[in-house]
Amino acid sequence: MKDRIKEVLRQRLPEVLASADRPQIHLCADIGWISDPNGLCVHNGITHIFHQYTPAEDLGLHKSWGHYTTEDWIHFKDLGPFMCPDQPIDKDGCYSGSAISWNGKMYVFYTGNILYPGDYDYVNEGRGHFTNCLVSEDGIHFSPRQTMLENKDYPASMSCHVRDPKAEIVDGKPLMVIGARTKDGEGCALLYQCSSEDLRQVEFIQEIHSPVPFGYMWECPDILQFEDVLLLLCCPQGVKKQGIDYENIYQNGYFILQKDQDGKFSAQKFHELDHGFDFYAPQTLLDDNNRRILIGWMGIPDADYENPEKSEGWIHCLTLPRELTWKEGKLYQYPIRELEKLRVDAQKIEIGPNHPVRPESPVYELHIDTGPEPFALMLRKDVSLIYDGKVLELNLGKSGAGRTSRHVQIDRMDCLDIFSDASSVEIFINHGQEAMTTRIYDGAQPGIITMNRNASGILYRLSSLEIDYSAALSPAALEEQA
Ligand code: FRU
Repeated sequence: MKDRIKEVLRQRLPEVLASADRPQIHLCADIGWISDPNGLCVHNGITHIFHQYTPAEDLGLHKSWGHYTTEDWIHFKDLGPFMCPDQPIDKDGCYSGSAISWNGKMYVFYTGNILYPGDYDYVNEGRGHFTNCLVSEDGIHFSPRQTMLENKDYPASMSCHVRDPKAEIVDGKPLMVIGARTKDGEGCALLYQCSSEDLRQVEFIQEIHSPVPFGYMWECPDILQFEDVLLLLCCPQGVKKQGIDYENIYQNGYFILQKDQDGKFSAQKFHELDHGFDFYAPQTLLDDNNRRILIGWMGIPDADYENPEKSEGWIHCLTLPRELTWKEGKLYQYPIRELEKLRVDAQKIEIGPNHPVRPESPVYELHIDTGPEPFALMLRKDVSLIYDGKVLELNLGKSGAGRTSRHVQIDRMDCLDIFSDASSVEIFINHGQEAMTTRIYDGAQPGIITMNRNASGILYRLSSLEIDYSAALSPAALEEQA
């Protein structure tokens, strides 16, 4: 199957790379579909970014994994298809999972999706979600895939939907969280302890629930430690919109975990992470400098808006890598400082009713010291940000391709940082206190930046990431992989 993908890659990559909407500062799949970032980890000084990958629909392939590596977050190597659903333990999809560097080895965990033939609902019957594992010394050559947990090994109250294992070190010990849906239709996470000798052995600790049910399924969990605070990141499905909260079909965010007297964790209030249209399945890694870095999928499943690039043989991209920090009881996120190396030039700007700013390229970073007063800021062709003193509203016109408006409460506005790419904007409010991420389609024109009152700022033109596709296209590299 990898040979066939390589053939299609060779044929279609040049056309896909020539697309005007193709992001310059974000990772996409080389060709075809990208969604959840998977297996984020640093092993022997190299950062690995795997991802959900369907290179071409006409290959009739279920979800596979693609693989990028980087040493500086600016230059990337595309290693091509990593694993395809070609084993009995994952025959209907190599679903999401994680990786961890532990005692000199890299362990990759993922969900093998198996659909049994028959007349099933595939929720409570007929589906296997196996937790599978591969091990590597060098992050390139892997052991054969092996099952660690089958559905019969999960708690009896679980439906067939138990997926997306994430391994993480907490208090020096390797743990694993897995997203789940109970037979009663409640979202939760399963917490396991890994044996410190061989991470392929796990022991069940507990189910993690919220005080009242919060959605029917928690996808893509992650567990993060900031000193004495433990957070559970996940993507609950089945949560209804409430005012300006939970405006997307599925949610992304985090719960603070509280430990009770018996040492059991429960999830507290849910906090949304990103309030834009296109953000889902975020995953984090801890780098060698102890930075917690998050990457999300700049897309969302089952949205009722379109991504026009689909007709060009590619769809979706990942978000910028964002450093997470825990400040005053809240998670802040801000693009990692390595991205400053993309700045080509800096222009101090005074923006106002009589001072439009005309960027040379749509690929830019814009900082504006807005201050707390209400404003209306126009970007690109028809993107507007309206602040009324309490709520920031993101509005998209035709360039939203069906996306309209999203909101976030900001009690006191101070400044905005906007990372604009050929077909996206990522907006960070008050140095990362809140974020709004969305795709836009305006023909990748830089547009004009205007504001209805005066403010000052800085505009940086950005150069592109450098991506080396040669390993993905070379036959040898493909055969070497798992
Ligand atoms: C989230 C998700 C995961 C699953 C994967 C399959 O986007 O639904 O739960 O593992 O996508 O592609």
